[in-house]
Amino acid sequence: MNNIVVNLSHKSYPLYIKRGLINQIGDEIAKIYTGKKIAIITDENVNALYGKVVEDSLKNSGFNIKTVVLKPGERSKSVESLLEVYDKLLDFGITRGDIIIALGGGVIGDLTGFAASTLLRGIPFIQIPTSLLAQIDSSIGGKVAVDLPKGKNLIGSFYHPEAVFIDPNVLNTLSTKFLHDGMGEVIKYGAIKDADLFRKLENFKDDHDLLANIDEVIYTCCSIKKVVVEKDEKDTGDRMMLNFGHTIGHSIEKYFNFEKYTHGEAVSMGMYLITTKSEALGITEKNSAERIKNLLIKYELPYEVKNLDKSKILETIAFDKKNNKDNINIILLNKIGDAFIKKIKSSSMIDYI
Ligand code: GLY
Repeated sequence: MNNIVVNLSHKSYPLYIKRGLINQIGDEIAKIYTGKKIAIITDENVNALYGKVVEDSLKNSGFNIKTVVLKPGERSKSVESLLEVYDKLLDFGITRGDIIIALGGGVIGDLTGFAASTLLRGIPFIQIPTSLLAQIDSSIGGKVAVDLPKGKNLIGSFYHPEAVFIDPNVLNTLSTKFLHDGMGEVIKYGAIKDADLFRKLENFKDDHDLLANIDEVIYTCCSIKKVVVEKDEKDTGDRMMLNFGHTIGHSIEKYFNFEKYTHGEAVSMGMYLITTKSEALGITEKNSAERIKNLLIKYELPYEVKNLDKSKILETIAFDKKNNKDNINIILLNKIGDAFIKKIKSSSMIDYI
């Protein structure tokens, strides 16, 4: 088992990465939790694939289980689902001494974490991420939230799990589209922090080769995220670097009503677009945008939107909760593997899209 520990001033927690981990989850949780009650929050798709395995393993270890199953997809990251989760957890008689498991991708992880952070003023929770995106990004670092009609992640908090259990084998049942969606964020880690990872991604022969080495890729990404989160838990400095490609990416997602592109796809286009511009401005080493583009093509990710209405994208950026009215922090590359934060006037954003 590959272990990483996230060390914060107020809390430390382990990330366990091991193939087949989900089959022995009961034994693993029994090592860190001495109570009896466990609530599992999951969605219909994940429940069909892994609900029984997880429940059986936990029951065999003597736990009393309640599973709450939500509809799959971003729509479930809503206040309505949150109320449903609160209600079912209270019916189960959950207390602050019990534990909640998020079994699923980013939507389930974010919603469960937010429910856990608020119900009864805080109940401990565990992440069992089942998508690549959740395994390398959203399950680590404590960002938990639900969406509002006015935008994504508008109600949230920083609330870290007690542990993250990552089983790379579950990615074998992930659709190619969602494996590649996660690859958008994997490419991002290589681009901002790790030229070796970027080269490895360039050298994998195909998805089969990628999946054969995915534990190492996950370990590398989680290690990068650990260091960034430890340095800047509350996202006021270095953690912003993880937003490479996201300012434009979020706007593209929103422009298409979150229907046309997945998060990883939108971020992919954001990374390529901003790097094309920063390269032309002489900020980024030549050929970086071309290397990003080639990697995106290799993992079947889009690199550009034809006939993008740039004024609409600028408008959406201006409304992003992360940006104040006058300035925007954008993430640029010096070269592959080396990113920095640049504060620009909002009016200068036009130069980067
Ligand atoms: N997903 C970006 C972050 O955790 O800060």
